[in-house]
Amino acid sequence: MSSPSDDKPIQPWEEEFPIDHANAELVNRREFARLLVFLSGGMTVGTAWIASRDLLFPPGRLTADHRICAQADVSIGGMLAFQLPGSNIPYILIHLSENEWRAFEQKCTHLSCAVYYSAKSGKIECPCHAGFFDARTGAVIQGPPPRRLPGLAIETRADGIYALATPQKA
Ligand code: FES
Repeated sequence: MSSPSDDKPIQPWEEEFPIDHANAELVNRREFARLLVFLSGGMTVGTAWIASRDLLFPPGRLTADHRICAQADVSIGGMLAFQLPGSNIPYILIHLSENEWRAFEQKCTHLSCAVYYSAKSGKIECPCHAGFFDARTGAVIQGPPPRRLPGLAIETRADGIYALATPQKA
């Protein structure tokens, strides 16, 4: 037995499942194109969702001042990692000197590695690509980070360090 087009012998399975190879290739391309459209559509929707998520659903705002810790919990030159209620943003609280405290987001503004305060250097450091931030202002001192670390408004009170309630936007 042979096919009329190429004189190759027809295999037994080809009689049961005949395939027109020219059309089969077209169908495969069409299906592949559909798959590409589906995937790129999914990626477009996913990217749009990520870009608009914080606008549509802003991360948890503090409606009241939040006590982070007691002053005695962090020694001078020390650091404490914490999160605020209703938020998964990591922060660090830094005890710079006797009555000097600062709080910043812990995510590096370059590629989101966790930063830490080094009492030895007096800077906030990112171990991933040697980024350095000013521990008083959060400004970039050195390295690839494009922006300062976002700060958190805090206040020292008799019973501890407080993150201040987030002001509502007008
Ligand atoms: S992630 Fe911090 S410097 Fe690159």
